[in-house]
Amino acid sequence: MTRVGIIGAGKIGGSLLVRLAGADSFEIGASDVHLEYLTPYAEQHGVWVTPSNRELAEHSDLLIMAVKPWDVGTVLAEIAPVLEGTEKAVTSVAAGVTISAIEKGLPEGTPVLRVMPNVCASVGLGSAVVTSNGPGREMLPTVMEIFRSVGDVMELPERLFDAATALHGSGPAYVALFADALIQAGVREGIPRDVAKRLVVGTIGGTAVLLEERSAHQVRDEVMTPGGTTAAAFVAMEKAGFVGAVYDGIAAAAEQARGLGR
Ligand SMILES: NC(=O)c1ccc[n+]([C@@H]2O[C@H](COP(=O)([O-])OP(=O)(O)OC[C@H]3O[C@@H](n4cnc5c(N)ncnc54)[C@H](OP(=O)(O)O)[C@@H]3O)[C@@H](O)[C@H]2O)c1
Repeated sequence: MTRVGIIGAGKIGGSLLVRLAGADSFEIGASDVHLEYLTPYAEQHGVWVTPSNRELAEHSDLLIMAVKPWDVGTVLAEIAPVLEGTEKAVTSVAAGVTISAIEKGLPEGTPVLRVMPNVCASVGLGSAVVTSNGPGREMLPTVMEIFRSVGDVMELPERLFDAATALHGSGPAYVALFADALIQAGVREGIPRDVAKRLVVGTIGGTAVLLEERSAHQVRDEVMTPGGTTAAAFVAMEKAGFVGAVYDGIAAAAEQARGLGR
């Protein structure tokens, strides 16, 4: 049974802990600088916990670093001595931190994998992309199985990771921004806030299901009657630069991710 150690019990690490704790194929451990964050996972999900990253590394075959990008260096310095002369693998979910930057902090030949998940993992509907260095390829199926427990996973070359970070890593926040704007617009038109929220959330959820089986253009065309209300909205939104703003937003986020790696 693969022993998986999750470093950082925050939003991403915590989502994995909740889902993996019940899985038969893994033995799960976790560390965090805040012992109080770990206690619920130990008490409610039977996860083995420790405040020491080093101790977790000793007890794990595969480590998943779920800490902020600027904390990765500290974690690597703590776990690197334990990895010397072993086949233990390290996976990072940190935005912008490249495999080669991680390799520099670890013994030569360490299997290193990189995953870009998103926060929808917390409800089991995450999207994630994964890649690895040469020695890490053997561990790819295991890491994909782990992230499949919190949603959809696919392989993607590392050169596209900053773009993917901008697209789906930050994606839930863009959808939430759009949802908030829609709700506000409904309220402005006189719809009670709770009704507006229910209508918007239902519309986003339903559209997501439609988009699984049809293209975005098909959905648009099915809704847009020539000369109708949707067409009027599209003209107004385009005039305000809606699509251009989306392109600019993704480009800015991708550039920010590239900056984290420098
Ligand atoms: N959240 C997202 O939507 C999202 C999406 C895609 C990718 N990611 C990536 O996932 C990573 C984790 O993000 P998150 O949102 O889950 O972060 P988070 O909620 O802040 O969780 C990180 C946890 O690790 C702890 N920590 C900090 N330094 C540590 C250390 N040296 N050893 C052990 N634990 C340490 C943090 O404590 P403190 O709070 O005291 O620092 C915190 O409890 C990031 O690198 C991010 O780029 C996040």
